[in-house]
Amino acid sequence: MIVIMGASGNVGSAVASELLDRGESVRVIGRSAEHLQSLVARGAEAAVGNATEVSFLTEAFSGATAVFAMIPTKRDAENVRSYYNAFGETIARAVKNARVNHVVNLSSHGANNAEGAGPVKGLYDQEQRLNDLSGVNVLHLRPTYFMENFYADNPLIREKNIMASAIREDVPFAVIASRDIAPIAADALMRRNFVGTQIRELLGERDVTMKEVTSAIGAELEKPELEYVQLSADEYTDLLQSHDFSENAAREMFELCEAINDQRFAVEQPRTAINTTPTSIEEFAREFASDFQN
Ligand SMILES: NC(=O)c1ccc[n+]([C@@H]2O[C@H](COP(=O)([O-])OP(=O)(O)OC[C@H]3O[C@@H](n4cnc5c(N)ncnc54)[C@H](OP(=O)(O)O)[C@@H]3O)[C@@H](O)[C@H]2O)c1
Repeated sequence: MIVIMGASGNVGSAVASELLDRGESVRVIGRSAEHLQSLVARGAEAAVGNATEVSFLTEAFSGATAVFAMIPTKRDAENVRSYYNAFGETIARAVKNARVNHVVNLSSHGANNAEGAGPVKGLYDQEQRLNDLSGVNVLHLRPTYFMENFYADNPLIREKNIMASAIREDVPFAVIASRDIAPIAADALMRRNFVGTQIRELLGERDVTMKEVTSAIGAELEKPELEYVQLSADEYTDLLQSHDFSENAAREMFELCEAINDQRFAVEQPRTAINTTPTSIEEFAREFASDFQN
């Protein structure tokens, strides 16, 4: 039995779906039975509850040959790093209590940075916490910036014909379609061929600039005039707070943008066929346009 956290989210749902396609027994965790229903209909067992509770999570992990662990994002967290740490501590305790031997942990590109990495600092902390568990084999997957983040620009495109963030328009950075994480996570969960603690970076198809992202999305939307605007710190954090981010979460996201601008997430492992994933920004832009038009 392979147990998947965040199974109704971007990554967890794709991992669960991939494992079901491959005929594996899967238990999926989430707070809403309804959100898990499509996976249950395909044979998954649901564990419905709040993963911030050690007793619930221990029960959900019991009997697992491997666990896909992740900390869900929480844009209204009063203090993002504290939130990640509290959630991460619960996961570590449940792994220990349920005597799980293999964990595939959803971390992030940049999680080698204890400071200056925005929300990713919480994933740095979680990597250390899981590494400290004795007798547990842990594979940290470090995917880069999700292309799905660009869906947040939908209202700006509709209302102002712009895409915007605090990332510079001309700095190349790696972006990944989050579904491309799924086959790699599924392989690791099934094979359990990692020993001790290991790190695998996942860097998308190629590095792109925000100018290229905007141009790819503009082309598919038949809006060649779509413009990218780099926002100041105040403009960016105000924008996020108007979309339910707490003040701290907005500041952390600005720090993440600065880390990208300064290329502080310099790749630990150089780009190779192993850490390059298939979906290009042009392919994602086609999906973005179809979603936008519907
Ligand atoms: N966005 C990026 O660019 C990026 C890049 C690298 C790494 N990451 C990391 O990836 C993670 C987010 O992954 P994701 O985008 O797949 O997440 P997501 O889409 O936000 O999904 C998280 C899922 O967890 C469930 N959930 C939330 N709170 C829960 C709770 N208390 N108990 C049980 N289930 C809960 C939610 O389902 P219900 O609401 O149904 O419970 C939700 O479907 C974060 O740790 C983030 O730092 C993100």
